[in-house]
Amino acid sequence: MPYAKIIGSGGYLPPRVVTNDDLAADLATRQIETSDTWIVERTGIRQRHLADPGVTTSQLATRAAQIALDDAGVAAEDLDLIIVATSTPDFVFPSTACLVQAALGSKGGAAFDVQAVCSGFVYALATADAFIRAGRAKTALVIGAEVFSSILDWNDRGTCVLFGDGAGAVVLKAADEPGIIAAQLNADGSQMKILCAAGNVAHGKVVGDPFLRMDGQAVFKLAVTSLAKSATDVCAEAGIKLEEIDWFVPHQANVRIINFLGRRLGLTDDKVVVTVDQHANTSAASVPLAFDAARRDGRIKQGDLVMMQGVGGGFTWGSVLARM
Ligand code: ACO
Repeated sequence: MPYAKIIGSGGYLPPRVVTNDDLAADLATRQIETSDTWIVERTGIRQRHLADPGVTTSQLATRAAQIALDDAGVAAEDLDLIIVATSTPDFVFPSTACLVQAALGSKGGAAFDVQAVCSGFVYALATADAFIRAGRAKTALVIGAEVFSSILDWNDRGTCVLFGDGAGAVVLKAADEPGIIAAQLNADGSQMKILCAAGNVAHGKVVGDPFLRMDGQAVFKLAVTSLAKSATDVCAEAGIKLEEIDWFVPHQANVRIINFLGRRLGLTDDKVVVTVDQHANTSAASVPLAFDAARRDGRIKQGDLVMMQGVGGGFTWGSVLARM
């Protein structure tokens, strides 16, 4: 049975950087008070990249995908699977993956979206792994991409300061050597209310609430307990010890969650990749963006064992263990 090996990665962030001070000044014009100090102390976030009006998720995804394809030395026409993880698709349909396929000039392979909010990339990666392991695909492109700013309520300081826009991508190829060695995906739909955007479009109108709503403290607690168990379980499945992990690439929501988790798992800070300070929470894009940053600066190297983790709305969570 072939393994799915990561052979390339790419990341793309929209050029507009908004610092906490910029955001605080903007919110102040609407009598909403926040500060760099509050945001940094509670979340570790210092800035985020925001897409300009009219910029779409598929555009960000295509930029990241092209960088990943170039990095892998793979031509778009050789892709037989494209999966895009997003909660902010361009359209109701077609899928963002189909738009990316067309923009890349690829044709004929499978292309579909995965909706698991901030766990989306890990869900998409595990899905692509299963396709390759089963012999149903040989060369896959997996993308996490969001214009998350489009579903933020800019009058809700409890959520709008936390998120950013961006895209990250990896290219997977069937290989005899590992590769992804284990994956675990989980969900608990009974917790949907703690993190949701409970609206849709019907009969030409927005029905329900189209903005992200969150019970931050409930999300914090569930994220820490579910990810700690998921890490232990995925390592048990792979028959490895937590201390064998070279790099931990967790979902980038909050530096306090990341630090708490790292300590609980016994992983020292120098093994943990953190980009939330620069990117904020880019939902499905956060893990591939962090992974790509650590690959490009030379931290993640050939042969390293990497654990990626996602957690988010649904409630969903999951882990992927990959040998580079
Ligand atoms: N600036 C200033 N004050 C604020 C802000 C802000 N931006 N936001 C909230 N406050 C105030 C609140 O109004 C409250 O004021 P009060 O005491 O007068 O009522 C006070 O700060 C404390 O608010 P809490 O919500 O209790 O703050 P907490 O310490 O819990 O931090 C936070 C909030 C950062 C959201 C935290 O709960 C958290 O990080 N939770 C996890 C969130 C997360 O990871 N979300 C992403 C999940 S992934 C996905 O799928 C999207």
